[in-house]
Amino acid sequence: MLRSVIVGTGSALPRRAVSNAELAEQVDTSDEWIVERTGISNRHIAADDETTSSLATDAARNALAAAGIEAASIDLIVLATATPDQTFPASATLVQANLGCRGGIAFDVAAVCSGFLYALGVADSMLRSGMAKRALVIGSETFSRILDWEDRTTCVLFGDGAGAIVLEAQEQDGENLRGVLATRLHADGAHNQLLYVDGGPSTTGTVGKLRMKGREVFRHAVVNLAEVLEEVLVETGHTSQDIDWLVPHQANARILDATAKKLNLPREKVVMTVGQHANTSAASVPLALDQAVRDGRIKQGDLVVLEAMGGGFTWGASLVRM
Ligand code: UT7
Repeated sequence: MLRSVIVGTGSALPRRAVSNAELAEQVDTSDEWIVERTGISNRHIAADDETTSSLATDAARNALAAAGIEAASIDLIVLATATPDQTFPASATLVQANLGCRGGIAFDVAAVCSGFLYALGVADSMLRSGMAKRALVIGSETFSRILDWEDRTTCVLFGDGAGAIVLEAQEQDGENLRGVLATRLHADGAHNQLLYVDGGPSTTGTVGKLRMKGREVFRHAVVNLAEVLEEVLVETGHTSQDIDWLVPHQANARILDATAKKLNLPREKVVMTVGQHANTSAASVPLALDQAVRDGRIKQGDLVVLEAMGGGFTWGASLVRM
């Protein structure tokens, strides 16, 4: 059976880390409020020379090195981002040029915080249909560029970063097949005014700033995530007790706790990086995955669930045997 197997992970963060205390010097907030309501202590903010494509390139190089694979053999790059370097061309093509691999498929996917799950779903389908053999699936964001730094209800929540995986089509036989076992994706455009950017090329001709009704997003996130996680488990005949690791979108520690509770999963099985990275949108799932792989928690053969929810609304989950 042809499966898309994760053969390497990588990530990259901007050089500059910004603590809650540093933010509290600029906006009316406090370390205490941010930690208590979100679990965030720190985030990384990109400098002028650090862009979505440069962070994505660094993350991709790290994933390729971990996989022991030359960039030249990559024939598909899917980059999830809501903060591309330019309106066009796709940032994925900039990454392709940086890596020096020419002629394959390269495009961006826009599903905001669920972007990595959407990118994974698309890449997995393309690999299993034979359109490509080796993919880089990347989530990379520079949300600091679209934050309203005078809006304390949003600017303290986000950070910049990138994560990447190398996904390879492999024939897998027998029990405990490695690879992506199931992916479920959803959208409900009726809620797009709860989390959006108030600008764009076709409306204002500007980039715009992020706007969010946090409390309502929170409410939907907990319900939607629990439902979609259940869907991938049912589809594959698993229960939450089979899961070795949950690698969730890192928006708020309280959402992660609520999701784990709904699934009856102990907190120790949830990979949590929100404290150090804040919400890095499409980058958050692959960043967290890479961290847990590199520190030895996630090992080959582990059953891992990836999930995310974001603007649109969009949401999704994927069950992967590492
Ligand atoms: O990645 C996409 C998905 N995004 C999410 O999942 C985000 C989901 N939402 C959340 O994580 C939470 O709703 C927030 C962290 C955004 C907010 O937490 P909350 O517990 O829902 O707080 P709230 O919005 O109800 O605000 C409580 C109070 C308000 O004051 P009043 O009206 O009660 O007097 C806010 O003005 O906290 C105030 N507040 C702040 N205070 C200090 C809001 N932001 C801040 C701040 N510092 N940065």
